[in-house]
Amino acid sequence: VERTYIMVKPDGVQRGLIGEIISRFERKGFALKGLKLFQCPTDLAEEHYVELKEKPFFPKLVKYIVSGPVVCMAWEGPGVVASARKLIGSTNPLTAEPGTIRGDLAIAVGRNVVHGSDSPDNGEREIALWFKEGELVEWEQNNAPWLLE
Ligand code: GTP
Ligand code: MG
Repeated sequence: VERTYIMVKPDGVQRGLIGEIISRFERKGFALKGLKLFQCPTDLAEEHYVELKEKPFFPKLVKYIVSGPVVCMAWEGPGVVASARKLIGSTNPLTAEPGTIRGDLAIAVGRNVVHGSDSPDNGEREIALWFKEGELVEWEQNNAPWLLE
């Protein structure tokens, strides 16, 4: 089954949006496999966004991600990577569709409240990066027959 790494960024935590953001994935029907509040060190933030290392905003981005605690999550389900990206909305909250997390809850690209993996491969890479052995929970959600045909 497919998994994605979702993270409430420091602005989302500070603004009291943790529950609101978790709720959107939970209500959609995806299964939560890992969850923690975490103060990210600089080297991990740099590794997470390694593909953006050459961008002019990279130092600002790393500073933002380590500026306060984040909420790390692993979510599982069919097509969860692309679906989560749709629920999150486009990178710039001003052009993100209403109804999406960023479209409803943010106004600045550098304060866009949530992260979601952009491919299944990156989902696995990021879950391995942010969670240690034993932090993910193996469990079956008993509502699966009501969510999956
Ligand atoms: P993530 O889910 O956080 O990975 O966002 P994304 O996939 O929608 O965008 P991308 O991976 O391209 O960029 C990662 C993050 O860098 C964004 O979420 C923004 O917080 C930040 N970012 C991207 N582009 C810009 C930019 O032009 N200016 C600034 N200040 N930040 C940017
Ligand atoms: Mg990205």
